[in-house]
Formats: sequence, C-alpha cells, structure tokens
Amino acid sequence: MTIDRPTHWDQRYAKVGYRNVSWFSPEPRVSLALLDRTGVGLDGSVVDVGAGASLLVDRLVERGHTDLTLVDVSQVALDTAAGRLPPGAAATVVVDVLEWEPARQWDVWHERAMFHFVNTDADIELYRQLVARAVVPGGHAVIGTFSEEGPLTCSGLPVARYSLEGLAAVFEDDFDLVWSEPETHITPAGAAQEFSWVVLRRHGA
Ligand SMILES: C[S@@+](CC[C@H](N)C(=O)[O-])C[C@H]1O[C@@H](n2cnc3c(N)ncnc32)[C@H](O)[C@@H]1O
Repeated sequence: MTIDRPTHWDQRYAKVGYRNVSWFSPEPRVSLALLDRTGVGLDGSVVDVGAGASLLVDRLVERGHTDLTLVDVSQVALDTAAGRLPPGAAATVVVDVLEWEPARQWDVWHERAMFHFVNTDADIELYRQLVARAVVPGGHAVIGTFSEEGPLTCSGLPVARYSLEGLAAVFEDDFDLVWSEPETHITPAGAAQEFSWVVLRRHGA
C-alpha cells in the first residue's frame, strides 16, 4: 500500500489531537526506565525517531538532558511537541526516516511504535542499516513495537509484529541484546495493546 505519509500523519494528529491518539501515553514509564538501562548521561545525545508529539521529550528536558533530537514525518506532531518545550530544548527534523541521511550520530536511538510501520523486507533492511549508522559504537538503541499479540493495524495502516527475540534478531548484525521486556499499553479509549521492547548495544568501543 502506498500512502502519502506526511499527509496521513499530519491529518491524524490534527483531527484526533495528540492526547487522544491510540498510542498516547500520559507517562512514558517504560521508555524512561529503558533509557536509564542504557546509562546515558544528561549530556549524552538522544534521538527519538517517530517521536510524534510524545511526552517523552518533556520528561527528558525536565530531567536536564541537553542534547535531544526529535524526528518525525509529521510537521504537526513535531510542532506540537516543540510548542510545549522551552525554546531550543530539542532539535526537530521533519523527514521520512526511510529517506533520511542523518549528518551525525547519537549515543541513544529511541523509537516507540514507529518501526512496526516499516513492513517490507527492503525497508526493514534500510532501517536496520540506518540505526547502525546513526548510533555511535558502544551506544544503544531502545526500540518498542507491537508484539505478536498486538494489533494487526494502527492508524489504518498494516503493521509488522515482533516477539522480543524476533525484534532483537533484526538488529543482531550490529547490536547485542542488553534487555527486553513486554508492555501492555492502555489506549486513551481503554483498549490493551501488547508491545515488545528491547535495549540493544552497538558493537564496538
Ligand atoms: C504510533 S505513532 C508513535 C509516536 C511516538 N513515538 C509515541 O510513542 O507517542 C508513530 C509515529 O511515527 C511517525 N512515522 C510513521 N512513519 C514514519 C516514517 N516513515 N518516518 C518518520 N516518521 C514516521 C508518525 O508520524 C507518528 O508520529
């Protein structure tokens, strides 16, 4: 299925509102706990890919992180997030990650509920290579997707679903598995959605 991704996601955020979308989490508890597992310091660099308008960046700014980057295909979502933050608290990049050539690397790549939309073998391979290029040797990736018990679609789009082991296996050429755990996300409408989370450490260093 071919979609106009910027329009699809911009309309989603504009029509539904970021606090009402199914993936909204009032407290990004698992993301914060897994970022703690990476040991990233307040001056370490963190990129949140497919960040949307998540409150994760708010919590990281409150903690005192100074090198934060948000990446998303939706200008509406990133404007919403940036509008809540002090000026300059996080860099924003509006881009389709499958067309993105980042000009730098980060200590930690965080991604929640975006990678499962990457669902062809060619695009998964492209994404795998992108994560490996964008994370410093010895750095970490924290990735959360729908699990094998998760929904088959989200926001009207088909998704790939991963076991904990299957998710780590996608990245095993460049990353070792450090930690994995399941999560049950409760949507604003009260539905349960099952997630798989992994913390991966980049080879080298
Ligand atoms: C389900 S939402 C999750 C948002 C955020 N991570 C969170 O946890 O609230 C998926 C996000 O990925 C973004 N997205 C989807 N496909 C993308 C792509 N190819 N490139 C960049 N962003 C993408 C969407 O705009 C949306 O903000």
